[in-house]
Amino acid sequence: MNAAASTTTARAPDSPAAQEEQSLLRFFTCGSVDDGKSTLIGRLLYDTRLILEDQFAALERDSARHGTTGGDIDFALLLDGLEAEREQGITIDVAYRHFATNRRRFIVADTPGHEEYTRNMATGASTADLAVVLVDARQGILTQTRRHAFIASLLGVRHVVLAVNKVDLVDFAQATFDAIAHEFHSFAKDFCFETIVEIPMSARYGDNVTTSSDRTPWYSGPTLLEHLETVPVTERDGPFRLPVQFVSRPNADFRGYAGQIAAGRIAVGDAIVAARSGRTSTVRSIVTADGNLQSASAGQAVTVVLSDEIDVSRGDILAAPAERPHRADQFMAHVIWFSPEPMLPGRSYVLRTEVDSVGATVTALKYQIDINNFSHEAAKSLHMNEVGVCNVSTQAPVVFDSYRENRSTGNFVLIDRFTNATVGAGMIDYPLHRAANIQWQALDIDRNARATLKHQRPAVIWLTGLSGAGKSTIANTLEKLLHAGGRHTYVLDGDNVRHGLNRDLGFTAEDRVENIRRIAEVARLMADAGLIVIVSAISPFGSERRMARDLFDPGDFVEVFVDTPLEECVRRDPKGLYRKALAGELTNFTGVDSPYERPETPELHLRTGGHDPAELAGQIEAYLLRR
Ligand code: ADX
Repeated sequence: MNAAASTTTARAPDSPAAQEEQSLLRFFTCGSVDDGKSTLIGRLLYDTRLILEDQFAALERDSARHGTTGGDIDFALLLDGLEAEREQGITIDVAYRHFATNRRRFIVADTPGHEEYTRNMATGASTADLAVVLVDARQGILTQTRRHAFIASLLGVRHVVLAVNKVDLVDFAQATFDAIAHEFHSFAKDFCFETIVEIPMSARYGDNVTTSSDRTPWYSGPTLLEHLETVPVTERDGPFRLPVQFVSRPNADFRGYAGQIAAGRIAVGDAIVAARSGRTSTVRSIVTADGNLQSASAGQAVTVVLSDEIDVSRGDILAAPAERPHRADQFMAHVIWFSPEPMLPGRSYVLRTEVDSVGATVTALKYQIDINNFSHEAAKSLHMNEVGVCNVSTQAPVVFDSYRENRSTGNFVLIDRFTNATVGAGMIDYPLHRAANIQWQALDIDRNARATLKHQRPAVIWLTGLSGAGKSTIANTLEKLLHAGGRHTYVLDGDNVRHGLNRDLGFTAEDRVENIRRIAEVARLMADAGLIVIVSAISPFGSERRMARDLFDPGDFVEVFVDTPLEECVRRDPKGLYRKALAGELTNFTGVDSPYERPETPELHLRTGGHDPAELAGQIEAYLLRR
């Protein structure tokens, strides 16, 4: 998925030429914090002599100084430096380490094991062939283990190694190992892994990592390295897919579509279809940094030139005409949630596929999956590390495959509009055609025509602030002012709307998101009808105010922060609600036990202290006239 990664390349034993013939295995490790992931990868690199000499000297020094292994080499120190490399926002801290043996090349995604683990795991796993699931032999299978195995299977990882680590600490007891392996198989059997191989090991002492241990004489299977070297990996095949990363137009004579082939192959002369428009053409040439090619296949970065001028832009997919990707603005998906802030149906996020980016909402959370027994549970929101199945609706159609068919064209991430953080990852199951038969009906009398007749420019004045801040009073005064000036207006007041349109909604975070979504949509219809709409609603969340803003043309949405200090609202308490909330008789009350996110850059910031409503309404009117 959209990860930024740091890369360390260790010295390989073979010449680069010899390795080019070798197959590639991508894998990642997962486990709880102290299961020994870093030690295991460090051990693999060390035993295969892949650590650079100077790194090794530094490791010996550091182990003596900070190690946890009493003078022995602490392999974990090799990798733990990465934790400090963590960056903010959508950068995801996965380091990809490349190494090779005589038999195979490897890329291992090192995913640090802090609590935001699933986020890193989803990133490392979406391209991986194999997962090494680490279990501490003393602790056995934990909820984490089930979660990791489940997420690995969701992400389409086909092979699993169950690394039962620290067997030295259970006296190399076969019974302990067998019990853990049995438990793992019993729940993972339904996960559609092609292979599950369990290996008893001690990463710290090297047992069964690269060499067979004589301390586990009862174990006759492969070492971890042997298994990694020999497990069969299938190439990405399937119908041709080139997600268009960018349109290359160096001059008027050249127009090419650049990207990395996600599946299949093409040759010059092949027919292709642009998935968004459905227009077809043929491949005229395949351009790469190393010259033109006659054909190209999955994994290669190419620029394709077509024989016809058809409309193709970034985010489109060039595909085999006989087997097209889906094009839809609604689909069902499995979503893994990463953020400490819960996922709220109705909230608007930015959905990013590997090449496209579009506004999206989760329209329905169908169910959440319980990690302990994998049953489907009804849920109103998804919390950090939870997995759910959702209907997703995008602002414009996207082109995609189902994740099962193609991991690269079937995945997406969700980005918080406000913080820009990656908050979830999704695997698309299938398109929903519910909306396919509903089209936008073009009407001849449009917003401009209606507005012209009213001699006004439609707008939405969005008053946000605490309960009791004075929003409704200001709204009422402003409407009287505008009305007296011959304007056509309407006030959408939170309290009033909750008696009708929104009578089914309460004050939980989910319900407030939906409340604001509906108010914003109604405000849009009214502005389209040519009105000046005054909204008065607490609208406590920045994300929803942003969503509302995005429904309007720039300049038509005027956010007004009615800023009255909480103490003052509590003192006024016009409806007696603060008293009830503070006494615990009313829950989820804004400012008491439910948050209010202050607007950072409203068009108008009205500090109400010492000003009367008429004066404040006058300020808004003046702003509208200046527009
Ligand atoms: S919003 O948060 O979803 O925007 P809205 O403005 O529609 O809220 O409704 C807020 C009004 O509902 C308040 O002015 C108050 O009269 C009433 N109310 C009842 N319970 C609550 C509550 N728990 N939190 C806030 N307002 C409440």
